[in-house]
Amino acid sequence: MKNLEIKDESIQSRDDTVEHWNIYDPVSVFYGRKELIKNIHSALDSNQRVVLTGLGGVGKTQTVAKFTQLYKDEYQKVFWIAADNLNKTMDEIIRYFGFGQYLPKDPSTEILVKLLLSKVCKVEEKTLIVLDDVTNLSSKDFKSFLRHVKDKLSLLMTSQLTDWEDLAVTNIKVPCFEEYESVGFLEGQIHHASAEDISTLVGHLQCYPLALHQAICYIRKLKIAVPSYIEQFEACRKSVLSMKIKSFSDYDKTLLTVWDMAFHKIKEESKNAILVLTMMGYMDNKRINKKTFTYLDNIDEIDVEEIVQLLGQYSLVNERNGFLEIHALVQKMLRYCVEEQNLVEDECPKKLVMDTIAGIFSFKKKDL
Ligand SMILES: Nc1ncnc2c1ncn2[C@@H]1O[C@H](COP(=O)(O)OP(=O)(O)OP(=O)(O)O)[C@@H](O)[C@H]1O
Ligand SMILES: [Mg+2]
Repeated sequence: MKNLEIKDESIQSRDDTVEHWNIYDPVSVFYGRKELIKNIHSALDSNQRVVLTGLGGVGKTQTVAKFTQLYKDEYQKVFWIAADNLNKTMDEIIRYFGFGQYLPKDPSTEILVKLLLSKVCKVEEKTLIVLDDVTNLSSKDFKSFLRHVKDKLSLLMTSQLTDWEDLAVTNIKVPCFEEYESVGFLEGQIHHASAEDISTLVGHLQCYPLALHQAICYIRKLKIAVPSYIEQFEACRKSVLSMKIKSFSDYDKTLLTVWDMAFHKIKEESKNAILVLTMMGYMDNKRINKKTFTYLDNIDEIDVEEIVQLLGQYSLVNERNGFLEIHALVQKMLRYCVEEQNLVEDECPKKLVMDTIAGIFSFKKKDL
């Protein structure tokens, strides 16, 4: 079986062996969540409509990625759909499977689901749809999607929203790692660290999977010892706490600290990388086209590749299906940093970033 990669807007020619739409592998350091994955498996068997809920960055999407990696062969078809792109993706799938002629102009969600069920998904086959990052439970399209899918296929969703009671969906909460899991995760990735240092680090990072992974990347990239990381973290945390960021939760502040540390190192290594990263803060976070950055003065395709590699080493950017992705929380932090002018002061002035973005995307500066 093959994982279809959507390279651009154009739909590729039909391939009968394609069974998996856009699924992707979890991070190479994926840790734990065995019990959770077992629960997802049995919940899908009994209800077919399951949602993973929890804090941003707690690992919902990664857990689903791991689940599909492990269980994809139990299904004849697996479709991974970003919830904010639901109709467009169903349209693409229907066309890809050769039924585009049935699509009216501007088809409704109802028509798209009906075509998907009647043409693409065969009754005797098991199909799984992953709907990643549902952000609006009351949207007309989402409600229509749920209503028309009914129990005809398995549906696995992720969402930060917690209020699913009325939707007849099994809600599985994804918690932060337990302390022992955080320790196990760090110990598996950082060698030659004492148990005491690991435990102090876990305390600082409050068992947040995203923060733990960031710390691992930073320590590995800079080849530093854990006590040195802790020292830098504490200094950076102090300056984050002194910022006027009342609207940020404790969780946000921990993430801001680990990212701020990475932003500073990236800035030392490549000013262009920080400019590119800052621009990503204002783009569609799951479909960033690398070519965009070659419109900047002094940046060519080779530079972009180097920058992507550097940002990838700090786990700030992932490349998937020909596009770059950046976590929505990283974007939130980047925008905050731009607004506070503490990321792009002298060498990459805010004005330069804004002018560039305004020029390329025709944004109005007041919107930024
Ligand atoms: N089990 C895990 N093992 C290793 N790293 C993990 C794990 N879970 C999460 N992470 C790290 O945390 C990051 C965020 O995870 P993920 O994107 O799954 O969060 P999320 O809960 O889907 O967040 P959001 O609600 O913002 O979409 C991952 O990119 C990875 O670095
Ligand atoms: Mg997610």
